[in-house]
Amino acid sequence: AISRVFGRQILDSRGNPSVEVDVVLVDGSTGRAAVPSGASTGANEAVELRDGDPRRFHGKGVSKAVAAVNGAIADAVTGLDAEDQALVDAAMIELDGTKDKGRLGANAILGVSLATVKAAAQAHRLPLYRYVGGVGATLLPVPMMNIINGGAHADNPLDFQEFMIAPVGATTFFEAVRMGSEVFHTLRGQLAAAGHSTNVGDEGGFAPDFADADEALTFVVRAIEDSGYRPGTDITVCLDPASSEFFRDGAYAYAGEGRKRSVDEHITYLLELAGRYPITSIEDPMAEDDFDGWKRLTQRAGERLQLVGDDVFCTDADRLLSGIRDGYANAILVKVNQIGTLTETLRTVDTAHRAGYRVVMSHRSGETEDTTIADLAVATGCGQIKTGSLSRSDRTAKYNQLIRIEEELGRAAHYAGAAGPR
Ligand code: PGA
Ligand code: ZN
Repeated sequence: AISRVFGRQILDSRGNPSVEVDVVLVDGSTGRAAVPSGASTGANEAVELRDGDPRRFHGKGVSKAVAAVNGAIADAVTGLDAEDQALVDAAMIELDGTKDKGRLGANAILGVSLATVKAAAQAHRLPLYRYVGGVGATLLPVPMMNIINGGAHADNPLDFQEFMIAPVGATTFFEAVRMGSEVFHTLRGQLAAAGHSTNVGDEGGFAPDFADADEALTFVVRAIEDSGYRPGTDITVCLDPASSEFFRDGAYAYAGEGRKRSVDEHITYLLELAGRYPITSIEDPMAEDDFDGWKRLTQRAGERLQLVGDDVFCTDADRLLSGIRDGYANAILVKVNQIGTLTETLRTVDTAHRAGYRVVMSHRSGETEDTTIADLAVATGCGQIKTGSLSRSDRTAKYNQLIRIEEELGRAAHYAGAAGPR
């Protein structure tokens, strides 16, 4: 049973405060979890409670969320069985009483939810991925590595937020990391040679002053080739334009390019890019409220492209069910803090898998050293993870944890590869 719950303010990778929670069980087992934070957040995400006091952390303090952890939430969950995750999460949801977790804060609730499962895993002397996923949790995910940052994650004019590489042709997760690291460093050299900045953005990818997606994709493909890999076979390219960020008055406003594209022009442009480059997956190709555009793109390309819903689903099983029913997207990005509890996160993953939608476990642009999502990717067998570039410890911490998990699984481990994701 849970004997003690303690929250504190720590810093995230952008230097903003975030919530960290310790949960201690009666037997002394402990779990610690830190909560991430997005920049290009979906409109329907669970609410991240911020203090709004301009004198402290420029209003971004989370002392109210921490107070909720140490007060009302601690009172409600102390004494509950940590193995009964559904009960603990339901108690917090009921205590909060709002649909968006805005009263106590999803950051408060998620911290307790994840610290609880980690304490329970320790009580069982099991690694987290095994405790949550059972003995069948042996699939290592294909990483989508974000090597060029734009949009809300960088100061450059790139309209699209993320240009990623996926080493589908690797034989193991470790080899995938090696391939990604090599491409990352090759790209650095090529950028420097071309007189571009090699400074990195929020997710550790380079953030040069590229004019448009074509220029970024040209560099990415050349870096793959010059590292000795076959684009499209060994390593594919994935995009997250984060289209909700530039959808205005029914059209897509490409500020960096200085032009507008109608919904149909935007779709045609994305498909044209997917035709000219070895692109296998596009996340948030359409804005979160452009349901018509989502349907049209899915009809045109859903057979051959992975179309990942991030903002449009917000890790919410009910929103995902709308997509399944109405026929848009064919995959979902899963971010624990978009929904706020582990129980709801796992329900969303399950809902996706039952409908044949693929699942990509994901970090946020604001992260910490917490590596829970690495374990959850293996626990759910989802086959794909998005956790940034090959630099910055907040990103590599997740890759390093997956390297350890692969090592621990030994011969039982298998890497998802090209066909792997279920
Ligand atoms: P965010 O970006 O964490 O800033 O929302 C990640 C994403 O859009 O996938
Ligand atoms: Zn996204």
